[in-house]
Amino acid sequence: MCGIVGYIGKEGAREIILRGLTRLEYRGYDSAGIALFNNEEKTFNIYKDMGRVAHLESITDFSYPSKIGIGHTRWATHGRPNQVNSHPHQSGNHRFFIVHNGVIDNYKELKSDYLEFNTFDSDTDTEVIAHLIEKFSNEMSVNEAIRKTMSLLEGSYALAIMDTENSEQLYACKNKSPLLIGIGENGIIISSDLMALVGYSTKYIPLQDKSFVEISGNQYVIYDVIGKQMEHDIKTIDIDYFNIEKGEYAHFMLKEINEQPSVIRTIISKYFDEDKVTLNGEIKKALSVSDRLYIVAAGTSLNAGYIGKEMFEKMAGIPTEVHIASEFAYNMPILSSNPLFIFISQSGETADLRAALVNVKAKGYRSLTLTNVKTSTLAREADYYVELHAGPEIAVASTKAYTANLAVLAILAYGLSNQSFDLRNELSKVAISIENIIDKHEYIESLVKESLTKRNCFYIGRGIDYYACLEASLKLKEISYIQTEGFAAGELKHGTIALIEEGTPVIAIISQRKTSKNTRSNLNEVKSRGANTFVISTRGVHEHGDQIVLDDVYELFSPILTIIPAQFIAYYAALHRGYDIDKPRNLAKSVTVE
Ligand code: AGP
Ligand code: GLU
Repeated sequence: MCGIVGYIGKEGAREIILRGLTRLEYRGYDSAGIALFNNEEKTFNIYKDMGRVAHLESITDFSYPSKIGIGHTRWATHGRPNQVNSHPHQSGNHRFFIVHNGVIDNYKELKSDYLEFNTFDSDTDTEVIAHLIEKFSNEMSVNEAIRKTMSLLEGSYALAIMDTENSEQLYACKNKSPLLIGIGENGIIISSDLMALVGYSTKYIPLQDKSFVEISGNQYVIYDVIGKQMEHDIKTIDIDYFNIEKGEYAHFMLKEINEQPSVIRTIISKYFDEDKVTLNGEIKKALSVSDRLYIVAAGTSLNAGYIGKEMFEKMAGIPTEVHIASEFAYNMPILSSNPLFIFISQSGETADLRAALVNVKAKGYRSLTLTNVKTSTLAREADYYVELHAGPEIAVASTKAYTANLAVLAILAYGLSNQSFDLRNELSKVAISIENIIDKHEYIESLVKESLTKRNCFYIGRGIDYYACLEASLKLKEISYIQTEGFAAGELKHGTIALIEEGTPVIAIISQRKTSKNTRSNLNEVKSRGANTFVISTRGVHEHGDQIVLDDVYELFSPILTIIPAQFIAYYAALHRGYDIDKPRNLAKSVTVE
């Protein structure tokens, strides 16, 4: 994971890099560091420590001008988060400074094959890269030394590199981990994603795997590993700057929960022409000629995928399987004769999905990415992409991307079906119903204060409600650290019910007529064993005493509604425990390591 920012140009490198790191902090926030050239003293300085970018800012010397530098926010993979393991790392004689995003799989072999007599300061895989570049630079140019190092590295990396013998030049290269260069009027930024560029430059180049760039002043040259110059496209950013500020909200998560009605409306405006769904013809064809859809995703996107399966099967009659990306990448099931792969990824950068996509492409199958970031790696590399239009999602806990996924999946499934109900109207009703829940947020907060006092919790439901429970429980556990499981209501009694104690919170999601009575029986079973139960239901199946009753919507769309109180439950549980809601411990927004 990690965020990388590098700058070279006429403006203040320190300010540009620190601002960029603050924006990229959602990618990893164990530690942060920056290396800068002091243009007055002609020295290179390094500042790094455990903790957030705000802390880095407080330990950085602001007294000198600096026109070149590299910075990093870390999500540790090798070595604990501490000062020494923080990036930038240096080569043995301190000539090279580097920041790294990714994992070097063969770093131990490289150490013993090439660096047997070197001493290392940190426990990271990264430091090996700096030592290798230095070693090779004794025998060849820096350009060649970096490319030679790249040719030896196995795994993923995005690197920004500074050479203390040349304060006029910055280097970067990548494989698997994302990296782009932003072209400003007065300089060039290297960054892991577009966020760091917003407000500075509107033109950027996404670097391809195994590419290397040499930057000096406003000039850049991109090479492949062999040293051949590479063609590249210059793209334009269309992220609205104000969308990445919190505004009046205490947290990004709260802002993003509140944005969901308008996200659904934006999606309607993008995918409808009057009352008709407007699907790209090629995408529609690719989906409809497939004999089976394979949805591949992780985390919240995976949970959306389970509901997507219900939509594709029940609305369009297309058999659909859902797979955990990290499993699928290395353990593919027997495939149908004409499959289509749907990769669902808010960020479009998740490494587990990328690994699966690479396998799928190698086998010659077609793929479609559903993503919120149309400039992302997964959008670029799949045959087709469909945009979520949720706007930038900053909080680590995904909220609006989940509901956007469900709305877009509904549109795709409907577009392939012979259904004739008024989808536009149904989705509009969903948006209004979300607003009705948002209005009740204070009541939900009081429920949370009363009921979520234990260390664990269960969400139970059946069918599509069970899938909603998976997402509801992920939300609660990832930000409140309450150990929460989403369970198929009928399965609890086959073992897990042993965990129910006096006062254990069990929340049932009940929106489906067919199974509502069964779920209520399962709820009674846990109640008799001391559980503190409460129910999120929809009007058509509600019973007197249910704590949260939601509007009725088209049955398959109920998860777009039932998840909203669950998002608030997670938010308030974390708030009242005093946790960092937008940046929960041990996590990062974009999981760019496998
Ligand atoms: C959920 O709140 C997230 N923290 C996480 O599970 C996320 O959904 C997952 O890492 C997948 O990310 P993606 O959608 O960007 O691929
Ligand atoms: N492997 C490097 C480290 O542990 C970079 C980690 C990352 O990209 O998340 O420091």
